[in-house]
Amino acid sequence: MSMLVRKLVALLCILCSVSAWGADVIRVGTQNVDLIFRVGENKRLKQVYLGRKLLNDQDLQYLTEGQEAYLTHGMEDYFEPAIQVEHNDHNSSLELKYISHEKKALQNGVDEIIVTLQDDKYPVTVKLHYVTYFDTDIIKAYTEISHKEKKPLLLHRYASSMLHLDKKKYFLTEFSGDWATEVHESTQELQFGKKVLDTKLGTRSNMFTPPFFQLSLNNVAEENAGEVLMGTLGWTGNFRFTFEVDNLKKLRVISGINPYFSTYSLPAKEVFRTPDFFFTYSFSGKGQASRNFHDWARQYQLKDGMGNRMTLLNNWEATYFDFDEEMLVSLMGDAVKLGVDMFLLDDGWFANKYPRHSDTQGLGDWTETRDKLPNGITRLVDEAAKKNIIFGIWIEPEMVNPKSELYEKHKDWVIHLPNRDEYYFRNQLVLDLSNPEVQDFVFGVVDGLMTKYPGIAYFKWDCNSPITNIYSPYLKENQTHLYVDYVRGLYNVLDRIKAKYPNLPMMLCSGGSGRADYKALSYFTEFWPSDNTDPIERLFIQWGYSQFFPAKTLCAHVTTWNKKASIKFRTEVAMMGKLGFDIKLSDLTLDELTYCNAAIKNYNRLKPTVLDGNMYRLVSPYEGNHTSTMFVSKDKSNAVLFAFDIYPRYAEKLHNVLLEGLDSEKLYMVNEINLVPGQNSPFKSQVYSGDYLMKVGLNVFTGKHLNSRVIEIIRKD
Ligand code: DGJ
Repeated sequence: MSMLVRKLVALLCILCSVSAWGADVIRVGTQNVDLIFRVGENKRLKQVYLGRKLLNDQDLQYLTEGQEAYLTHGMEDYFEPAIQVEHNDHNSSLELKYISHEKKALQNGVDEIIVTLQDDKYPVTVKLHYVTYFDTDIIKAYTEISHKEKKPLLLHRYASSMLHLDKKKYFLTEFSGDWATEVHESTQELQFGKKVLDTKLGTRSNMFTPPFFQLSLNNVAEENAGEVLMGTLGWTGNFRFTFEVDNLKKLRVISGINPYFSTYSLPAKEVFRTPDFFFTYSFSGKGQASRNFHDWARQYQLKDGMGNRMTLLNNWEATYFDFDEEMLVSLMGDAVKLGVDMFLLDDGWFANKYPRHSDTQGLGDWTETRDKLPNGITRLVDEAAKKNIIFGIWIEPEMVNPKSELYEKHKDWVIHLPNRDEYYFRNQLVLDLSNPEVQDFVFGVVDGLMTKYPGIAYFKWDCNSPITNIYSPYLKENQTHLYVDYVRGLYNVLDRIKAKYPNLPMMLCSGGSGRADYKALSYFTEFWPSDNTDPIERLFIQWGYSQFFPAKTLCAHVTTWNKKASIKFRTEVAMMGKLGFDIKLSDLTLDELTYCNAAIKNYNRLKPTVLDGNMYRLVSPYEGNHTSTMFVSKDKSNAVLFAFDIYPRYAEKLHNVLLEGLDSEKLYMVNEINLVPGQNSPFKSQVYSGDYLMKVGLNVFTGKHLNSRVIEIIRKD
């Protein structure tokens, strides 16, 4: 569909929504998806449809069967409710009746539908919000809850969204794991009852599972076939997805903040706004659903979504805590020799009374360690400027080591149980961000550094501990607000940083795995998917995160993890994300350095395609011993294919890889790049049609262990 036709269809949809099919039908529609509600005779709101776009408005009148859109506790349904409150008289029932709905155009192609519901026995109002991103088929749902009771209303559950599906079968793909084994994909059929995906970790909240899922409908969806609903919650704290198959084999999906230890006492006049739940629905497999998310994220959600990303050299694995000023200056020289854009100074540069020589102390004391950096950050910023590279710095501002001046001075700022021994995760505790003074302090870490050293041009924001010893000295009697208010406090800080430093790129890090959600990514330009940089593991980990996040968000560093894999293999895995290095150049041979220099140059040329193009996952690493992914520029003029042989079996049959996303009527020149000195390739500037490449494909795999290829494909105009 051309842009003009799309816009006309969008306009027609807006016009239709206010007239053609009657006031009791509420349509939340994108280019290919419809979510439809209807007001029942009893004024209760029913979801009557979710699926492929319905083309004829007159048919909508026949959608009469439905289920309570936002199920309440205490009424006649026997399954998990979306909302559960407790009124001032301790009655906990809620019956929500339709009052009104409105549709607003937020920007070109983005509309918001707001449905207002109220209880006629208690003054409680619930507003269901749906924001539709027409072109990308993404729908954002959130809920606002308010009331006019005298005393606070207790909110025991408060989902962002509830969706109903009625299909033959449901297959849930989850992405669970642990530190260094993140986002392992596994699929199970849902049977009667509940499956819950949740976290109670508070801060490093996604360590065991991130806030996203895929739901295949009728059959297990493939990359290019099948119906799949993909959802994710924009919340950097405890979340819960509940999938419940009821007695009629219908599925209910409830998404939101995890209600665990989170009863919220809401005063009258305040509005409780839930986090955003984002979802897309694809009728042609997971690949399309991922591309919907990638396009939407770049356009609407991700910080500097359409902007460039920098290559870098990080010193973490090269030095750990053991460095001094001269060593850092010499590493900056390495960054220049490599040809990357930035040098990133990691953990270990701060604290004096308890210098940060290991992870046991110093966290919280954000001044340079004099012994290590006698001339402070100034010298480093100056050296970077002299060498014409960008300087970035690591911080972990939400945390404190008990062995620190901050802890000695401000124990009242630390989440800890007043009457029990402290329990530490990585020798540290979490600061109480529900407290505005602590928010000021955390903001001050970034602001203080930026004010003193305006040359700092990048932050890596780490977060290595979940909330342990859950008790807030600040919240006193409202302890069950802590998980929620912590995250809100964090967002306050990040809002202030974004307002004051709108163009400051920041990496969201959390020892890997801990934080990757679309609310956080409105403040951060990229995230650190895993501390595990073994390229084989990364093939799986990046495959997992790529389901939801575009390549430009996935930091991928070349390190010394798994030296059995060549520097070429390690670099080529990292080139499928935001490329960085975390190695000592002295560990590389001259040939390896020559290879890296050329690979970085190639990456810089390919960046627009990898970071902003369409991604096609061609062969899954879960299928066997090979994997391949390709990226195609939006205008189909350039593409790059990455192919990896992991551990092929002896005499294994190799299949051609069918390319995707090209123009079948155009010719393309196919050329292998990133060759190591002296290497030959069978792909030397041959010309094929897009048709051939997509129907016959290329024989890019080999029987060699840990072999990799990068193939550049350029349209001949
Ligand atoms: C965990 C991060 O994932 C690492 O990259 C590094 O920054 C360390 N923290 C530093 O303590």
